[in-house]
Amino acid sequence: MTEQSDKRLSGKIAVVTGSAMGLGEAIARGFARQGAKVACIDLQPAPNEALVADIKSGGGDAISLIGDVARAADTERLAKAVTGHYGRIDILVNNAGVLPSRETVLHTSEADWDETMRVNVKGVFLMSKAVIPEMIKAGGGAIVNMSSITGLVGLPVRPAYSASKGAVAILTKQMAVDFGGDNIRVNALSPSFVITAINKPMFDKMKEEGEPWERLLDMHPLRHLGQPEDVAHAAIFLASDEASWITGVILPVDGGYTAC
Ligand SMILES: NC(=O)c1ccc[n+]([C@@H]2O[C@H](COP(=O)([O-])OP(=O)(O)OC[C@H]3O[C@@H](n4cnc5c(N)ncnc54)[C@H](O)[C@@H]3O)[C@@H](O)[C@H]2O)c1
Repeated sequence: MTEQSDKRLSGKIAVVTGSAMGLGEAIARGFARQGAKVACIDLQPAPNEALVADIKSGGGDAISLIGDVARAADTERLAKAVTGHYGRIDILVNNAGVLPSRETVLHTSEADWDETMRVNVKGVFLMSKAVIPEMIKAGGGAIVNMSSITGLVGLPVRPAYSASKGAVAILTKQMAVDFGGDNIRVNALSPSFVITAINKPMFDKMKEEGEPWERLLDMHPLRHLGQPEDVAHAAIFLASDEASWITGVILPVDGGYTAC
């Protein structure tokens, strides 16, 4: 066997949204290390292109595509660009997401509610809608959606975000039912806290205001927060043929947070 064929995603064509930083970046890097060719999709050209250049300089294969996952004109163009470049799509990671406000329902603006739902829910719908026909043509595929522990249990001051991640969880199960017959598996990851741009302001504010942010650690039986790579490893597993009989699963990647 060649070294290439030992890799867990060898020969797969993968699309990762929200790839320019955070969890998406770790997933794109992890996929490339496991032999996938990765179409990296984000709104931010500079960091996305830097990521692709870095993957290529390490011997991987990736392209950078810029667009909004929640605009149908963009998602159709992006899916065409991937198949134009790589010929087909085997894996879709719907990772792009936003968390514009941290308030109770009483102080969440309509605009923040709409933007959260637009990106976090409509983005998963539109990317899936654009890519699934390509997976059907290819004879099957694997979709990994990014939910969150907030889609499974109640956390303070994030009503729109929690509702959006709960929607992603049930949409995952729903699509798993509709497309199992096309050999398309649809699963989701539900991470707990991993410090990235999406929640760094929360940690900074807690520290600034002298809040005992370390109490968060006690809510995790493993007593530490996650790293982007913890989430990437789970994404690699669900996207790979090792998970070939797993669909409709919402997998917590949370240091045990939802166990207690
Ligand atoms: N970090 C955590 O603790 C955590 C926990 C649970 C779930 N998540 C989820 O994981 C995903 C990634 O989060 P992260 O922490 O890496 O966030 P991040 O803010 O670091 O990265 C998000 C990326 O998505 C891109 N993006 C945002 N809107 C987009 C759009 N409309 N079209 C295309 N790209 C867009 C951004 O440009 C950015 O590169 C999100 O869905 C988030 O809700 C994160």
